[in-house]
Amino acid sequence: MPADPGAAAVAGAGDVRRPALVISNATVFDGSGAPRFTGDVAIEGDRIAAIAEGGTLRGAASIDASGLALAPGFIDVHTHDDRMLLDGGGMAPKVSQGVTTVVAGNCGISLAGLALQGRPPQPLDLLDPAGGWFRFPTFEDYFAAFERQPAATNAAFLVGHSTLRAAAMDDLSRAASPAECRRMCAAIDEAMQAGAIGLSTGTFYPPAAAAPTSELIELSRRLTACGGLYVTHMRNEAEAILPAIDETLEIGRACGIGVVISHHKVAGLANHGRSVETLARIAEAMQQQPVALDCYPYEASSTVLSASRLSMSSRVLVAWSTPHPECAGRDLAQVAADWGVSAEEAVRRLQPAGAIYFMMDERDVQRILAFPETMVGSDGLPHDASPHPRLWGTFPRVLGHYSRDLGLFPLEVAVHKMTGLPAARFGLNARGRIEPGAYADLVLFDPATVIDSATFESPVRPAAGIHLVMVNGTPVWRDGVATGERPGRVLRREER
Ligand code: ZN
Ligand code: CU
Repeated sequence: MPADPGAAAVAGAGDVRRPALVISNATVFDGSGAPRFTGDVAIEGDRIAAIAEGGTLRGAASIDASGLALAPGFIDVHTHDDRMLLDGGGMAPKVSQGVTTVVAGNCGISLAGLALQGRPPQPLDLLDPAGGWFRFPTFEDYFAAFERQPAATNAAFLVGHSTLRAAAMDDLSRAASPAECRRMCAAIDEAMQAGAIGLSTGTFYPPAAAAPTSELIELSRRLTACGGLYVTHMRNEAEAILPAIDETLEIGRACGIGVVISHHKVAGLANHGRSVETLARIAEAMQQQPVALDCYPYEASSTVLSASRLSMSSRVLVAWSTPHPECAGRDLAQVAADWGVSAEEAVRRLQPAGAIYFMMDERDVQRILAFPETMVGSDGLPHDASPHPRLWGTFPRVLGHYSRDLGLFPLEVAVHKMTGLPAARFGLNARGRIEPGAYADLVLFDPATVIDSATFESPVRPAAGIHLVMVNGTPVWRDGVATGERPGRVLRREER
């Protein structure tokens, strides 16, 4: 690189004729899915100032990007980064992949909206295994903390239904009473007012499993006037996945709001192949109402350790365990054999714990990923001792493994699924596109070498081929190292 982009930003401040920085001769993927072109992109302050196909722009500083791909920064639409954003905020697992914006608060779990002493109930403890982090009673409180000490990436936030239940109810094993619903509605109003972009639910999990559809509709009505989204880890992703999709669609229709089906998959050996049915149902619904979906590019899932998932899985890995931290990363079957106990007994002894379950069919993963409306979301769990490799590998894996090596779709489509498409579905204005006036969230990568390095055996590894990542015009990752800059912003819901 001929110049240091950090220095260029300073030099550009006094130069009115030339933009601070020009990235020249890049192969530009603009995020819309349109064919790539070779050209120059000029950056001034936190925005893209100009684009020249063919290349004629001059800047106070320049980066020769010959042979490299320039794309909008990736948007990780499904994360559990609520705490990582505040806890140091360097976001290395994300910026190392080219991610510049994350959507947090998924699966019914938001860090904001609950003040608690001690450990939260599962699965809220995925954010906070040791306790002490649930200390933001309102979204305003959380956003203030973020803005006092910003993260390296931007972030948009969902209110978690399970978090609100834990705050409003003394017994999570039943439907909310009218008074409890009123309390949760007030909390949703506060969050939306502060700038949250929607409500997430995780009716699969115990804290919300007893919530009937009527409770979900009553709460989701608070989103209608402000255009919030209903984002869901559905009640069932196995045998009863079609009724779960229908429930999601019903909530969207009843409230006149858009729905997002999170980490779409068909789980369990018995259900392999059923993405043919689920995608047909989703495609049909898309003709009638706004429906979106995301997925991560792996055939293993990851969440809390539970005996109920053992029979659905061909293999289970321990991701973390409070009483047995030495078991993190090990095969559950091996742990059980070493202890001379059944797998069920090993699960009991490891609690509280998290796990990785090999329970999907690779053909379903590819079919869902290739579905034109599917966005990319990592579902990475940043606090696991031995995390699912999706935390560090999701985006380069889609680019390198699925797009380039397997040819599942062109690179233009891969980039669109992680930029322009999610920006449109989540209402992130002036993000996800390379166009004049858009924010300078950018990633420069080598399309020939980009690939995930994180594996199930060695999950904490930065991807290869990501050269430069900028958030709001400031480099956050360069040549394999975080710069330490924290230019991230809270992306508040735009008034509509
Ligand atoms: Zn989930
Ligand atoms: Cu999730």
